[in-house]
Amino acid sequence: MKMTRLAGASLIAALGLALAWPATAAEPLKIGLILPMSGPFAAYGKQIENGVKLYLQQNGDVFSGRKVELIVRDDTGLAPAIDKRAAQELVVKDKVDILAGFGLTPSAMAVAPIATEAKKPMVVMNAATSSITTKSPYIVRVSMTLPQNAAPIASWAAKNAIRKVFTVVADYAPGIDAETQFKKTFTAAGGEIVGEVRTPPRSPEFSPFLQRIKDAHPQAVFLFVPAGQQGIAFMKGFAERGLAAAGIKLIATGDLTDEDVLDAMGDPALGVITSFHYAESHRSRENKAYVEAYAKAYPNDRPNFMSVAGYDGMHLIELVLKKTGGNADGDAFIAAARGMKWMSPRGPVSIDPATRDIVQTVYIRKVERVDGKLQNVEFDQVPAFRDPGKP
Ligand code: PHB
Repeated sequence: MKMTRLAGASLIAALGLALAWPATAAEPLKIGLILPMSGPFAAYGKQIENGVKLYLQQNGDVFSGRKVELIVRDDTGLAPAIDKRAAQELVVKDKVDILAGFGLTPSAMAVAPIATEAKKPMVVMNAATSSITTKSPYIVRVSMTLPQNAAPIASWAAKNAIRKVFTVVADYAPGIDAETQFKKTFTAAGGEIVGEVRTPPRSPEFSPFLQRIKDAHPQAVFLFVPAGQQGIAFMKGFAERGLAAAGIKLIATGDLTDEDVLDAMGDPALGVITSFHYAESHRSRENKAYVEAYAKAYPNDRPNFMSVAGYDGMHLIELVLKKTGGNADGDAFIAAARGMKWMSPRGPVSIDPATRDIVQTVYIRKVERVDGKLQNVEFDQVPAFRDPGKP
Protein backbone atom coordinates (compact mmCIF):
# COMPACT_ATOMS: atom_id res chain seq x y z
CA MET A 1 0.00 0.00 0.00
CA LYS A 2 2.75 2.34 1.06
CA MET A 3 4.77 1.32 -2.00
CA THR A 4 1.89 2.10 -4.38
CA ARG A 5 1.35 5.52 -2.85
CA LEU A 6 5.03 6.31 -3.28
CA ALA A 7 5.00 5.15 -6.88
CA GLY A 8 1.91 7.24 -7.51
CA ALA A 9 3.53 10.30 -5.96
CA SER A 10 6.66 9.99 -8.04
CA LEU A 11 4.55 9.46 -11.16
CA ILE A 12 2.71 12.71 -10.45
CA ALA A 13 6.04 14.44 -9.80
CA ALA A 14 7.41 13.11 -13.08
CA LEU A 15 4.31 14.26 -14.95
CA GLY A 16 4.61 17.68 -13.35
CA LEU A 17 8.18 17.90 -14.45
CA ALA A 18 7.25 16.88 -18.00
CA LEU A 19 4.56 19.57 -18.13
CA ALA A 20 6.78 22.27 -16.67
CA TRP A 21 9.65 21.61 -19.11
CA PRO A 22 9.24 21.94 -22.82
CA ALA A 23 9.07 18.48 -24.35
CA THR A 24 11.98 19.52 -26.57
CA ALA A 25 14.45 20.30 -23.75
CA ALA A 26 16.65 17.25 -23.96
CA GLU A 27 15.58 15.85 -27.31
CA PRO A 28 18.12 15.82 -30.11
CA LEU A 29 17.76 18.45 -32.81
CA LYS A 30 17.43 16.46 -36.03
CA ILE A 31 18.40 18.30 -39.19
CA GLY A 32 17.71 16.61 -42.52
CA LEU A 33 20.18 17.88 -45.14
CA ILE A 34 19.02 17.30 -48.70
CA LEU A 35 21.98 17.85 -51.02
CA PRO A 36 23.48 16.77 -54.34
CA MET A 37 26.23 14.46 -53.05
CA SER A 38 26.70 12.65 -56.39
CA GLY A 39 26.26 13.52 -60.07
CA PRO A 40 27.31 16.69 -61.93
CA PHE A 41 26.54 18.99 -58.95
CA ALA A 42 28.22 16.85 -56.26
CA ALA A 43 30.59 19.72 -55.42
CA TYR A 44 27.60 21.72 -54.13
CA GLY A 45 26.78 19.02 -51.59
CA LYS A 46 30.39 18.64 -50.55
CA GLN A 47 30.90 22.38 -50.03
CA ILE A 48 27.63 22.92 -48.15
CA GLU A 49 28.27 19.91 -45.91
CA ASN A 50 31.82 21.17 -45.29
CA GLY A 51 30.43 24.50 -44.07
CA VAL A 52 27.77 22.86 -41.89
CA LYS A 53 30.31 20.58 -40.21
CA LEU A 54 32.88 23.34 -39.75
CA TYR A 55 30.30 25.40 -37.85
CA LEU A 56 29.58 22.47 -35.50
CA GLN A 57 33.28 21.76 -35.09
CA GLN A 58 33.95 25.36 -34.05
CA ASN A 59 30.83 26.03 -31.96
CA GLY A 60 29.96 22.64 -30.52
CA ASP A 61 27.06 20.44 -31.58
CA VAL A 62 24.61 21.28 -28.80
CA PHE A 63 22.17 24.11 -29.57
CA SER A 64 20.18 25.31 -26.53
CA GLY A 65 20.56 21.95 -24.81
CA ARG A 66 19.71 19.89 -27.89
CA LYS A 67 22.35 17.74 -29.54
CA VAL A 68 22.47 18.34 -33.26
CA GLU A 69 22.02 15.22 -35.39
CA LEU A 70 22.61 15.55 -39.12
CA ILE A 71 20.95 13.19 -41.57
CA VAL A 72 22.32 13.72 -45.09
CA ARG A 73 20.27 12.60 -48.13
CA ASP A 74 21.73 12.65 -51.64
CA ASP A 75 19.32 14.01 -54.26
CA THR A 76 21.81 13.54 -57.16
CA GLY A 77 21.24 17.07 -58.54
CA LEU A 78 18.42 18.04 -60.89
CA ALA A 79 15.96 15.35 -59.76
CA PRO A 80 12.95 16.86 -57.92
CA ALA A 81 11.18 13.51 -57.51
CA ILE A 82 14.13 12.30 -55.43
CA ASP A 83 14.01 15.48 -53.31
CA LYS A 84 10.34 14.96 -52.61
CA ARG A 85 10.80 11.36 -51.52
CA ALA A 86 13.82 12.26 -49.39
CA ALA A 87 11.91 15.06 -47.64
CA GLN A 88 8.89 12.84 -46.99
CA GLU A 89 11.07 10.13 -45.47
CA LEU A 90 13.00 12.62 -43.37
CA VAL A 91 9.76 14.03 -41.95
CA VAL A 92 7.78 10.81 -41.48
CA LYS A 93 10.42 8.18 -40.75
CA ASP A 94 13.37 10.10 -39.29
CA LYS A 95 11.15 12.72 -37.64
CA VAL A 96 13.52 15.58 -38.39
CA ASP A 97 12.90 18.99 -36.84
CA ILE A 98 14.40 20.98 -39.70
CA LEU A 99 14.83 20.47 -43.43
CA ALA A 100 17.93 22.13 -44.87
CA GLY A 101 20.36 22.14 -47.80
CA PHE A 102 18.94 22.42 -51.37
CA GLY A 103 21.63 22.93 -53.98
CA LEU A 104 19.39 23.65 -56.95
CA THR A 105 16.12 25.51 -57.44
CA PRO A 106 14.02 22.50 -58.54
CA SER A 107 14.98 20.72 -55.28
CA ALA A 108 13.77 23.57 -53.10
CA MET A 109 10.59 23.96 -55.16
CA ALA A 110 9.80 20.24 -54.81
CA VAL A 111 10.20 20.24 -51.03
CA ALA A 112 8.40 23.55 -50.23
CA PRO A 113 4.88 21.98 -50.08
CA ILE A 114 6.17 19.25 -47.74
CA ALA A 115 7.63 21.87 -45.36
CA THR A 116 4.27 23.66 -45.40
CA GLU A 117 2.23 20.55 -44.73
CA ALA A 118 4.54 19.27 -41.97
CA LYS A 119 5.11 22.80 -40.56
CA LYS A 120 8.87 22.20 -40.59
CA PRO A 121 11.38 25.03 -40.94
CA MET A 122 13.18 24.79 -44.28
CA VAL A 123 16.60 26.47 -44.42
CA VAL A 124 17.72 27.05 -48.03
CA MET A 125 21.52 26.96 -48.33
CA ASN A 126 21.94 27.57 -52.05
CA ALA A 127 18.93 27.40 -54.42
CA ALA A 128 18.68 31.01 -55.56
CA THR A 129 15.55 31.69 -57.61
CA SER A 130 13.88 34.73 -56.08
CA SER A 131 10.40 33.20 -55.71
CA ILE A 132 11.51 30.18 -53.64
CA THR A 133 10.79 31.90 -50.32
CA THR A 134 7.22 32.58 -51.45
CA LYS A 135 6.55 28.85 -51.92
CA SER A 136 6.23 28.12 -48.20
CA PRO A 137 5.84 30.29 -45.08
CA TYR A 138 8.38 27.97 -43.40
CA ILE A 139 11.27 28.79 -45.75
CA VAL A 140 14.17 31.01 -44.74
CA ARG A 141 17.14 31.52 -47.09
CA VAL A 142 20.78 32.13 -46.14
CA SER A 143 22.38 32.04 -49.62
CA MET A 144 21.40 34.71 -52.17
CA THR A 145 19.06 35.36 -55.05
CA LEU A 146 20.03 35.72 -58.69
CA PRO A 147 18.38 39.16 -59.03
CA GLN A 148 20.28 40.27 -55.90
CA ASN A 149 23.58 39.45 -57.62
CA ALA A 150 22.59 40.36 -61.22
CA ALA A 151 21.42 43.94 -60.53
CA PRO A 152 24.76 45.25 -59.20
CA ILE A 153 26.77 43.95 -62.18
CA ALA A 154 24.20 45.49 -64.56
CA SER A 155 24.61 48.87 -62.83
CA TRP A 156 28.39 48.50 -62.87
CA ALA A 157 28.40 47.72 -66.62
CA ALA A 158 26.19 50.72 -67.45
CA LYS A 159 28.42 53.00 -65.38
CA ASN A 160 31.56 51.72 -67.07
CA ALA A 161 30.87 52.56 -70.69
CA ILE A 162 29.37 49.19 -71.63
CA ARG A 163 26.37 49.92 -73.88
CA LYS A 164 25.68 46.69 -75.78
CA VAL A 165 25.33 43.39 -73.99
CA PHE A 166 24.43 39.85 -75.12
CA THR A 167 22.87 37.77 -72.32
CA VAL A 168 23.47 34.03 -71.92
CA VAL A 169 21.65 32.15 -69.18
CA ALA A 170 20.84 28.57 -68.26
CA ASP A 171 17.27 27.84 -69.32
CA TYR A 172 15.68 27.24 -65.92
CA ALA A 173 14.27 29.43 -63.15
CA PRO A 174 17.49 31.00 -61.74
CA GLY A 175 18.72 31.72 -65.29
CA ILE A 176 15.43 33.40 -66.22
CA ASP A 177 15.66 35.42 -62.96
CA ALA A 178 19.22 36.53 -63.78
CA GLU A 179 18.29 37.47 -67.36
CA THR A 180 15.16 39.39 -66.32
CA GLN A 181 16.93 41.43 -63.63
CA PHE A 182 20.02 42.12 -65.72
CA LYS A 183 17.91 43.43 -68.61
CA LYS A 184 15.72 45.51 -66.30
CA THR A 185 18.58 47.25 -64.50
CA PHE A 186 20.82 47.58 -67.57
CA THR A 187 18.20 49.01 -69.94
CA ALA A 188 16.88 51.38 -67.24
CA ALA A 189 20.44 52.75 -67.05
CA GLY A 190 20.52 53.30 -70.83
CA GLY A 191 22.09 50.00 -71.95
CA GLU A 192 20.95 47.91 -74.90
CA ILE A 193 20.50 44.11 -75.11
CA VAL A 194 21.75 43.08 -78.57
CA GLY A 195 20.94 39.40 -78.27
CA GLU A 196 20.01 36.70 -75.78
CA VAL A 197 20.20 32.94 -75.56
CA ARG A 198 19.07 30.37 -73.03
CA THR A 199 21.20 27.25 -72.79
CA PRO A 200 20.14 23.77 -71.61
CA PRO A 201 20.56 23.49 -67.82
CA ARG A 202 22.16 20.03 -68.22
CA SER A 203 25.44 19.52 -70.15
CA PRO A 204 25.06 22.33 -72.70
CA GLU A 205 27.12 22.56 -75.89
CA PHE A 206 28.19 26.20 -76.09
CA SER A 207 29.97 26.34 -79.50
CA PRO A 208 26.97 27.31 -81.69
CA PHE A 209 25.94 30.01 -79.18
CA LEU A 210 29.46 31.42 -79.04
CA GLN A 211 29.50 31.94 -82.81
CA ARG A 212 26.14 33.73 -82.69
CA ILE A 213 27.38 35.99 -79.93
CA LYS A 214 30.56 36.84 -81.82
CA ASP A 215 28.55 37.75 -84.92
CA ALA A 216 26.33 40.14 -82.91
CA HIS A 217 29.39 42.23 -81.87
CA PRO A 218 28.36 43.03 -78.28
CA GLN A 219 30.74 44.92 -75.99
CA ALA A 220 30.11 42.35 -73.29
CA VAL A 221 28.43 39.04 -72.55
CA PHE A 222 26.45 38.69 -69.34
CA LEU A 223 26.47 35.04 -68.23
CA PHE A 224 24.68 32.93 -65.66
CA VAL A 225 25.16 29.19 -65.64
CA PRO A 226 25.04 27.07 -62.46
CA ALA A 227 28.45 27.17 -60.75
CA GLY A 228 30.89 24.47 -61.79
CA GLN A 229 31.87 22.64 -64.96
CA GLN A 230 29.59 24.65 -67.28
CA GLY A 231 31.39 27.88 -66.42
CA ILE A 232 34.76 26.25 -67.13
CA ALA A 233 33.48 25.05 -70.52
CA PHE A 234 32.03 28.45 -71.42
CA MET A 235 35.20 30.28 -70.47
CA LYS A 236 37.29 27.86 -72.53
CA GLY A 237 35.06 28.33 -75.58
CA PHE A 238 35.04 32.10 -75.10
CA ALA A 239 38.84 32.13 -75.45
CA GLU A 240 39.12 29.42 -78.14
CA ARG A 241 36.44 30.92 -80.42
CA GLY A 242 38.17 34.29 -80.31
CA LEU A 243 35.55 36.26 -78.37
CA ALA A 244 38.06 37.45 -75.79
CA ALA A 245 40.53 38.33 -78.58
CA ALA A 246 37.75 40.28 -80.36
CA GLY A 247 37.60 42.52 -77.26
CA ILE A 248 34.29 41.18 -75.95
CA LYS A 249 34.19 41.40 -72.15
CA LEU A 250 32.71 38.68 -70.01
CA ILE A 251 30.66 39.80 -67.00
CA ALA A 252 28.66 37.53 -64.72
CA THR A 253 27.34 36.78 -61.29
CA GLY A 254 30.10 35.26 -59.15
CA ASP A 255 28.73 31.76 -59.76
CA LEU A 256 31.07 31.80 -62.77
CA THR A 257 34.30 32.43 -60.89
CA ASP A 258 33.41 30.23 -57.89
CA GLU A 259 36.60 29.46 -55.95
CA ASP A 260 35.74 25.76 -56.23
CA VAL A 261 36.54 25.87 -59.97
CA LEU A 262 38.76 28.96 -60.29
CA ASP A 263 42.01 26.96 -60.30
CA ALA A 264 40.64 24.70 -63.06
CA MET A 265 39.61 27.75 -65.10
CA GLY A 266 43.12 29.10 -65.03
CA ASP A 267 44.43 32.20 -66.75
CA PRO A 268 41.45 32.82 -69.10
CA ALA A 269 39.57 33.88 -65.92
CA LEU A 270 42.01 36.74 -65.22
CA GLY A 271 40.29 40.13 -65.38
CA VAL A 272 36.73 38.76 -65.39
CA ILE A 273 34.41 41.07 -63.45
CA THR A 274 31.53 39.63 -61.42
CA SER A 275 29.18 40.64 -58.62
CA PHE A 276 28.67 38.34 -55.64
CA HIS A 277 28.07 38.14 -51.92
CA TYR A 278 31.11 36.02 -51.00
CA ALA A 279 34.76 35.85 -51.95
CA GLU A 280 37.46 33.73 -50.31
CA SER A 281 39.63 36.85 -50.42
CA HIS A 282 37.07 39.04 -48.57
CA ARG A 283 38.97 41.18 -46.07
CA SER A 284 37.54 40.88 -42.59
CA ARG A 285 38.54 39.37 -39.27
CA GLU A 286 35.67 36.88 -39.49
CA ASN A 287 36.62 35.74 -42.98
CA LYS A 288 40.30 35.43 -42.15
CA ALA A 289 39.38 33.09 -39.30
CA TYR A 290 36.91 31.22 -41.53
CA VAL A 291 39.39 30.71 -44.38
CA GLU A 292 42.12 29.52 -42.00
CA ALA A 293 39.82 27.08 -40.21
CA TYR A 294 38.47 25.85 -43.54
CA ALA A 295 41.95 25.21 -44.93
CA LYS A 296 42.82 23.23 -41.82
CA ALA A 297 39.64 21.15 -41.92
CA TYR A 298 39.54 20.61 -45.70
CA PRO A 299 43.05 21.00 -47.12
CA ASN A 300 41.94 19.91 -50.60
CA ASP A 301 39.05 22.38 -51.00
CA ARG A 302 38.78 26.15 -51.22
CA PRO A 303 36.03 27.88 -49.23
CA ASN A 304 33.31 29.24 -51.50
CA PHE A 305 29.80 30.74 -51.40
CA MET A 306 28.17 27.36 -50.87
CA SER A 307 30.35 26.42 -47.90
CA VAL A 308 29.67 29.80 -46.32
CA ALA A 309 25.91 29.32 -46.78
CA GLY A 310 26.12 25.95 -45.01
CA TYR A 311 28.09 27.60 -42.21
CA ASP A 312 25.68 30.53 -41.92
CA GLY A 313 22.68 28.21 -42.09
CA MET A 314 23.89 26.49 -38.92
CA HIS A 315 24.66 29.86 -37.34
CA LEU A 316 21.08 30.98 -38.02
CA ILE A 317 19.66 27.75 -36.58
CA GLU A 318 21.72 28.16 -33.40
CA LEU A 319 20.68 31.83 -32.99
CA VAL A 320 17.02 30.95 -33.54
CA LEU A 321 17.11 28.15 -30.97
CA LYS A 322 18.72 30.49 -28.47
CA LYS A 323 15.82 32.88 -28.96
CA THR A 324 13.10 30.21 -28.75
CA GLY A 325 14.68 28.35 -25.81
CA GLY A 326 15.25 25.26 -27.92
CA ASN A 327 11.90 25.23 -29.70
CA ALA A 328 12.29 24.36 -33.41
CA ASP A 329 8.57 24.14 -34.29
CA GLY A 330 7.91 25.75 -37.66
CA ASP A 331 5.95 28.78 -36.50
CA ALA A 332 8.20 29.58 -33.52
CA PHE A 333 11.33 29.05 -35.62
CA ILE A 334 10.26 31.36 -38.44
CA ALA A 335 8.98 34.04 -36.05
CA ALA A 336 12.41 34.07 -34.38
CA ALA A 337 14.30 33.99 -37.70
CA ARG A 338 12.60 37.12 -39.04
CA GLY A 339 14.93 40.09 -38.64
CA MET A 340 17.81 37.96 -37.26
CA LYS A 341 21.20 39.65 -37.78
CA TRP A 342 24.70 38.28 -37.52
CA MET A 343 28.24 38.74 -38.78
CA SER A 344 29.04 36.22 -41.50
CA PRO A 345 32.46 35.59 -43.06
CA ARG A 346 30.91 37.35 -46.10
CA GLY A 347 30.13 40.51 -44.07
CA PRO A 348 27.04 41.66 -42.11
CA VAL A 349 23.84 39.76 -42.97
CA SER A 350 20.23 39.74 -41.82
CA ILE A 351 16.97 37.97 -42.57
CA ASP A 352 14.42 40.31 -44.13
CA PRO A 353 11.46 40.15 -41.70
CA ALA A 354 8.96 40.51 -44.56
CA THR A 355 10.35 38.02 -47.12
CA ARG A 356 12.53 35.67 -44.99
CA ASP A 357 15.27 36.18 -47.58
CA ILE A 358 18.83 37.26 -46.87
CA VAL A 359 19.91 40.90 -46.89
CA GLN A 360 23.64 41.32 -47.52
CA THR A 361 26.42 43.30 -49.14
CA VAL A 362 26.98 42.51 -52.80
CA TYR A 363 30.55 43.13 -53.95
CA ILE A 364 31.96 43.90 -57.39
CA ARG A 365 35.12 41.84 -57.92
CA LYS A 366 37.83 41.21 -60.47
CA VAL A 367 39.77 37.98 -60.91
CA GLU A 368 43.43 38.60 -60.11
CA ARG A 369 46.41 36.48 -59.18
CA VAL A 370 47.12 36.98 -55.48
CA ASP A 371 50.10 35.16 -53.92
CA GLY A 372 50.12 32.80 -56.89
CA LYS A 373 46.41 31.95 -56.60
CA LEU A 374 43.47 33.23 -58.68
CA GLN A 375 41.13 35.22 -56.44
CA ASN A 376 38.00 37.35 -56.77
CA VAL A 377 39.30 40.68 -55.51
CA GLU A 378 36.53 42.99 -54.26
CA PHE A 379 36.76 46.64 -55.36
CA ASP A 380 33.25 48.06 -54.91
CA GLN A 381 30.11 47.16 -52.95
CA VAL A 382 26.39 47.66 -52.49
CA PRO A 383 25.73 47.36 -48.74
CA ALA A 384 22.62 45.79 -47.14
CA PHE A 385 21.15 44.87 -50.51
CA ARG A 386 17.70 43.20 -50.56
CA ASP A 387 16.50 40.85 -53.27
CA PRO A 388 15.08 43.15 -55.97
CA GLY A 389 13.32 40.22 -57.65
CA LYS A 390 10.27 39.94 -55.40
CA PRO A 391 6.99 41.08 -56.93
C1 PHB B 1 19.95 27.15 -58.47
O1 PHB B 1 19.58 26.12 -59.07
O2 PHB B 1 19.15 27.85 -57.82
C2 PHB B 1 21.38 27.55 -58.55
C3 PHB B 1 22.36 26.62 -58.87
C4 PHB B 1 23.69 27.02 -58.97
C5 PHB B 1 24.03 28.33 -58.75
C6 PHB B 1 23.07 29.26 -58.41
C7 PHB B 1 21.74 28.88 -58.32
O3 PHB B 1 25.32 28.71 -58.91
